[in-house]
Amino acid sequence: MVSPSSERWCARSTEPTAMAAAIPYATPPRPLADAFGFFRAWLQDPLRVAAVAPSSQALGRLITSGLCERTGPVVELGPGTGVFTRALLERGVRPEDLVLVEAQPDFAEALRLRFPDVRTLCMDAARLRTHAPFCDRPIGAVVSGLPVLSMPPRQVLAILKGSFDRMAPDGAFHQFTYGPRCPVRPEILARLDLEATRVGRTLANIPPAAVYRIRRKGAPPHDRASERVSASESAASA
Ligand SMILES: C[S@@+](CC[C@H](N)C(=O)[O-])C[C@H]1O[C@@H](n2cnc3c(N)ncnc32)[C@H](O)[C@@H]1O
Repeated sequence: MVSPSSERWCARSTEPTAMAAAIPYATPPRPLADAFGFFRAWLQDPLRVAAVAPSSQALGRLITSGLCERTGPVVELGPGTGVFTRALLERGVRPEDLVLVEAQPDFAEALRLRFPDVRTLCMDAARLRTHAPFCDRPIGAVVSGLPVLSMPPRQVLAILKGSFDRMAPDGAFHQFTYGPRCPVRPEILARLDLEATRVGRTLANIPPAAVYRIRRKGAPPHDRASERVSASESAASA
């Protein structure tokens, strides 16, 4: 059962002290092997992978801020080697409430081994329009590591439409970018009646990155405290 809107956003869980050092649903991190595997994947498909190294833990904490076990179903798009997946589990999102959507077969296979209790779908994120990962349960949040800036606008539109067709009224799409503004074009936001808010930026990533939260215009307000904690976290990591 998805909790009421005021409870979906979890200020307390965004405090760094609440982050567990180890999580029960994953094999231990392997930063060197991940960096190597990621670089190899980038060499094979630079446009789709669109980064030479996995995101940092600081970016993982920033993009998952405000999410916790009360968020309900969460879909992660483009998880790669699972930096954001790990951050979501550390924040208390339950493995059965998490679905990973990864287009690159080698990443998808590695994610299944690494997070055996989490469902991984090897498919294009644009297929969310026709494929409902949680059947009738509304999605509480989408966390996206997709390279939106290098995608055709039509594909970005399909991904956002598919996500928001299945999203709870107060749900949000969390997107990171290396660019100076929201990576989703204003025309696409306007067409889907969405608005983007910058959550914060971290310099502790190569390259530095910012996170945007995209929601329906006029969506029910969520816990303001989570935004305050997000801001202080991003200031701390900047
Ligand atoms: C910039 S990497 C981010 C990986 C990871 N989230 C991180 O931050 O380290 C982009 C990821 O999105 C995946 N991807 C790209 N296009 C996709 C699509 N259309 N559907 C699903 N995954 C996609 C890539 O394979 C890659 O894993």
